[in-house]
Amino acid sequence: MSFNGKTIVLTGASSGIGEEAARQLARRGARLCLLARREEELARVQADILADGGRAWIYPTDLTHPDSIDTALDALLAEHPRVDALVNNAAHSIRRPIVDALDRVHDYERTMQLNYFGALRMTMGLIPRFLAQGHGHVVNASTLSAQVPIPLFSAYLASKAALESYSRSLNAELGHKGIRATMVYFPMVRTPMSSRTSIYKHMRMMKVEDAAGWVLKALRDQPARVGSPLGTVGSLVLAAVPGPAVKYTQPFFRRMDRRLKAKLGKSWP
Ligand SMILES: NC(=O)c1ccc[n+]([C@@H]2O[C@H](COP(=O)([O-])OP(=O)(O)OC[C@H]3O[C@@H](n4cnc5c(N)ncnc54)[C@H](OP(=O)(O)O)[C@@H]3O)[C@@H](O)[C@H]2O)c1
Repeated sequence: MSFNGKTIVLTGASSGIGEEAARQLARRGARLCLLARREEELARVQADILADGGRAWIYPTDLTHPDSIDTALDALLAEHPRVDALVNNAAHSIRRPIVDALDRVHDYERTMQLNYFGALRMTMGLIPRFLAQGHGHVVNASTLSAQVPIPLFSAYLASKAALESYSRSLNAELGHKGIRATMVYFPMVRTPMSSRTSIYKHMRMMKVEDAAGWVLKALRDQPARVGSPLGTVGSLVLAAVPGPAVKYTQPFFRRMDRRLKAKLGKSWP
C-alpha cells in the first residue's frame, strides 16, 4: 500500500489508533498533518516519524474550540498546497446508563462538540480545497456499537450517528465532484480510550496495529464503509426489524454485563 506524496490530515494523532495510523502512513510515504491537544505528545510522534525518514507537521488543536480549529486549518492550508484526505479520528467516549445521565445533558453536549462538531468543522474547512482540487476524501472513525443495538453509550453513539448521517449526505451531494466519505466501524481496540474503563480489561480486543490498518484500507479503497461482518449483519437486522433486533438482543447484553461484573467483583448497572 503506497501513499507516496499524499497529504493526509489526521486528528487524534497523539495516541491510540491515530498515532499508530500516522506511523503506518508515514512509512508508506504520506505527508502527515497531525492534530491533537497535547503538543508534547504530537512532537513525540512527529520526532519518531522524522527519525524514520517520514514527513509530518504538527498542529496542536482543541477540536472542541472553533477558534482553535480555524487557526489550525488556516496554518495547514497555507503550508500544504494539496490536501488529499482528512481522517476524523479524535473522539471521546462515555459509558453511562441513561438513567444516570438524566441531569447530565452536558455529557451529550460535550460529546457532540468533539465527536461531531469538531469533525464537521474540520471537514467543512477542507471542502473548498477538495472542490478546487477536484478530489478529497474524508474518513470518519466510528464504532461497531453504532451498528448493533448496544446499551450504555447513548451520548457517544448519538454523536457517531450524526457523523454517519453527514457522511452519507457528503457522498450523495459531492461524490460526483470527487469528494468521498468513509465510515470506519472499529470493534473494541486496545488503546488508552478503552483502557480507561476497568471493565474492559477482561474483554478480547483488536490490536491497535490492525485498527490502524483499517484506516489505511479506508484511505486506499475509499469505500463508503469499512467494518466487520458482524457489523454488516447488525446493520441489516436493525434496518429490517428494529423492534425485535433490540428486544431480543437485550438479554445478551445484560448477560454480558453480569459476566463482566462477576469478573470485576463489583457492582455494575
Ligand atoms: N478504542 C476503541 O475500543 C474504539 C472502538 C471503536 C471506535 N473507536 C474510535 O476510534 C477513534 C480513536 O480512538 P482511540 O481508542 O485511539 O482513542 P484515544 O487513544 O483515547 O485517542 C483519542 C485521541 O483524540 C484526541 N483528542 C481527544 N480530545 C480532543 C480534543 N478536544 N481536541 C483534539 N484532540 C482530542 C487525543 O489527543 P489529546 O488528548 O492530545 O488531545 C487522542 O489523540 C475514536 O474516534 C473512537 O471513537 C475506538
